[in-house]
Amino acid sequence: MKIVITGASGGIGSALVNLARERGDYVIGISRSGKNADVNYNCDVLDVQCLAEVAEEVGDVDGLALLHGHGSGELWNKKIDALSGDDFLEVFKIDVVGSFNVVKAFAPNLKTNSSVVFATSTPAIVGDVYGVPYAVAKGALISLTRSLAKILSPIRVNSVAFGPVETKWVEWIDEVELSRFRERTLLKRLATPREAAEAIYWLLSPSSSYVTGQLLIVDGGESL
Ligand SMILES: NC(=O)c1ccc[n+]([C@@H]2O[C@H](COP(=O)([O-])OP(=O)(O)OC[C@H]3O[C@@H](n4cnc5c(N)ncnc54)[C@H](OP(=O)(O)O)[C@@H]3O)[C@@H](O)[C@H]2O)c1
Repeated sequence: MKIVITGASGGIGSALVNLARERGDYVIGISRSGKNADVNYNCDVLDVQCLAEVAEEVGDVDGLALLHGHGSGELWNKKIDALSGDDFLEVFKIDVVGSFNVVKAFAPNLKTNSSVVFATSTPAIVGDVYGVPYAVAKGALISLTRSLAKILSPIRVNSVAFGPVETKWVEWIDEVELSRFRERTLLKRLATPREAAEAIYWLLSPSSSYVTGQLLIVDGGESL
């Protein structure tokens, strides 16, 4: 497959880059700093001109995985009385508007049997006391998934709701909180980035050829 991955420099993104390359796929990475894909473009997802230039250059693709995300420990830990409307807009801009920009730029490149996959999060379904702007933005991505599945059909569009995956956000919280995250899962542990990447890869691949408009929950049983 020839696939485009946004957030290719991130924890889950780089795991997917490695996994896909190991399986013989050609990977086009997009992030502001990534270097690990077969070809790397340093675009901001809010820079529509940059995205359009990349889309023009790379040609037809079999898959698009949107794994970028706004990441800030300070914002994640803000209590409700400290949160402002701008905090919501900041996350929404990167996660939702940025995702829309990427899909819009690459829509002409998507082959008829191709697949688009978004990364969302279990707090979008069950809520959380942390990272409320993140949960809200991820909820919007679930809606975007369903609408785009209808609009872009027969191109498949799905999303994965991850529970806690061991990437850089674990540095934002102390060990007590981290063990609470582990305990909330039935498997009593965080997912590895590789396990998260496997779920995305399945949805990108022809193995999931009759799955579209769906939300796959990969959370070690956390949301039960
Ligand atoms: N880890 C988890 O537990 C978890 C759980 C649920 C959902 N998710 C979601 O899964 C996705 C990946 O998570 P992760 O933990 O791998 O995140 P991460 O390690 O923080 O990586 C985030 C990626 O987004 C890119 N990025 C951020 N802002 C960007 C912008 N304006 N333009 C272009 N690229 C941008 C970063 O690259 P540059 O800085 O190089 O631009 C980086 O590659 C995110 O959407 C996250 O919200 C993660």
